Amino acid sequence: MFITFEGIEGAGKSLQIARTEEYLKKKGIPCLTTREPGGTEFGLALRPILLGTDGCRREPICELLLYLADRYQHLKEVIEPALKRNIVVLSDRYQDATRAYQGAARGIAESTVEKLTRLIGITEPDRTLLLDLAPEEGLPRARQRNEACPVAGAEGRFEAEDLSFHKRVREAYLKLAARFPERIHVVAASGTPDEIFSRIAPLIDTWTSAIR
Ligand code: TYD
Repeated sequence: MFITFEGIEGAGKSLQIARTEEYLKKKGIPCLTTREPGGTEFGLALRPILLGTDGCRREPICELLLYLADRYQHLKEVIEPALKRNIVVLSDRYQDATRAYQGAARGIAESTVEKLTRLIGITEPDRTLLLDLAPEEGLPRARQRNEACPVAGAEGRFEAEDLSFHKRVREAYLKLAARFPERIHVVAASGTPDEIFSRIAPLIDTWTSAIR
């Protein structure tokens, strides 16, 4: 089973993924947490280029191709081999992030994103948890984290975008949830980490009930 976590900046994905991994391990279900961009050595080399704040100019399509390159390597090197070994894969972002950020927010036509993705054989995850939060709440959190952590601060390309950009990202994610209702489950990401995880755990239980 391949589960992805999506949401705007500061929605708390990293924390909830860590909680999910711990929860699955306690149940004796083998799992692996990974992320995009940067789930492979190649991806890690791309990450500062993709997320750096003082990098050189790039066209939206150029950015899209780099995210797809990162994803293709990630899929072949990490995700598919783990799934073959019946390991549950939890990924912090995947293809829906490209649809929301490069497609809706940067303005690349949906048909371009879909055609390129299909051309190289990027597959859909089995399930997606969309941690939904208003950017007015998430963005200050993400910016605060960046100020506190030099590494995150150096990766602030998207946090530096204005509120309207992040509103487009959130709307795009919600539209995707309506387009893929079987796969994408929206979880309200307001409240304490415990409250948020109490919304996630029953979904994880249902999805993994056949495993073991
Ligand atoms: P992430 O490491 O999840 O950072 P955060 O914890 O702040 O959400 O994601 C890094 C950034 O990468 C995020 O701002 C969105 C961007 N991104 C895209 O624009 N397209 C993509 O396809 C992916 C995977 C990420």
